[in-house]
Amino acid sequence: MFDLTNKVAIITGASQGIGKGMAETFSKAGAHVACVSRNKDNLKSVADSLIKNGGAASFYTCDVSSLDAFQNTIKEIVENHGSVDILVNNAGVCKDKLIMRMSEDDWNKVININLNGAFNGIKAVSQIMIKQRAGRIINISSIVGLIGNPGQANYAASKAGLIGLSKSAAKELAPRGITVNAIAPGYIATDMTDQITDQAKENLITKIPLGRIGSPSDIAASALFLASDEAGYITGQTLTVDGGMVMI
Ligand SMILES: NC(=O)c1ccc[n+]([C@@H]2O[C@H](COP(=O)([O-])OP(=O)(O)OC[C@H]3O[C@@H](n4cnc5c(N)ncnc54)[C@H](OP(=O)(O)O)[C@@H]3O)[C@@H](O)[C@H]2O)c1
Repeated sequence: MFDLTNKVAIITGASQGIGKGMAETFSKAGAHVACVSRNKDNLKSVADSLIKNGGAASFYTCDVSSLDAFQNTIKEIVENHGSVDILVNNAGVCKDKLIMRMSEDDWNKVININLNGAFNGIKAVSQIMIKQRAGRIINISSIVGLIGNPGQANYAASKAGLIGLSKSAAKELAPRGITVNAIAPGYIATDMTDQITDQAKENLITKIPLGRIGSPSDIAASALFLASDEAGYITGQTLTVDGGMVMI
């Protein structure tokens, strides 16, 4: 079950947090994991540790908000490893402010990385996956994209956009055997959520029915399922992984 042997998986934002968790899980499941982000040192240390633990991995520095850079990276990965079977668009940032104080630059930056980055990745892999007549694309959205959040208009818009993007891509690519799904994580312990005060964390936990903050491995397990052959009849869906925080 959920075996990724002989698959090449590209994971963006694999240098830390949820992306690193997915890289570890996919590697244990047998995939060659191509780790992509901007910071070479962090990426190298993740890829080295996957290899040290018996997995197959490589790393590529790339800013996913540049279509040219992302296309070139994917070309290089295919040249080096023969194919791309799985793409996880996970790279993301937040720049929080109330709308009236949010600069145009902060709006554009978050949309460019979180939403345009995923578009760039899908555009770059779709031609390859169409030729293979197989593929799995997973976009990491957020519960904030489902319910909104004050101070996160840019982030929420990018994450809601990913859900529409996933559904449209799912409909376009389904006839070629490619599935496209989104995962909407709730509150997951990573650097992104590290700034929140202990008091705010305790308040948050009271809103999570399962009574705990999530870990990168919680998201990685769902991503592994959606990437597997067993999920071949699931496309265009958003899987919420949040301890029950949002039930709609
Ligand atoms: N943590 C949560 O509670 C939570 C909840 C819902 C959704 N999410 C989503 O899950 C994803 C991962 O979040 P995380 O918590 O693991 O965040 P994180 O620890 O801040 O990691 C973000 C990753 O994205 C990469 N990245 C950022 N900008 C990039 C760019 N322009 N090009 C390529 N890579 C880039 C970073 O690497 P470099 O700096 O090396 O580029 C890093 O590896 C994000 O999309 C986030 O929105 C997180």
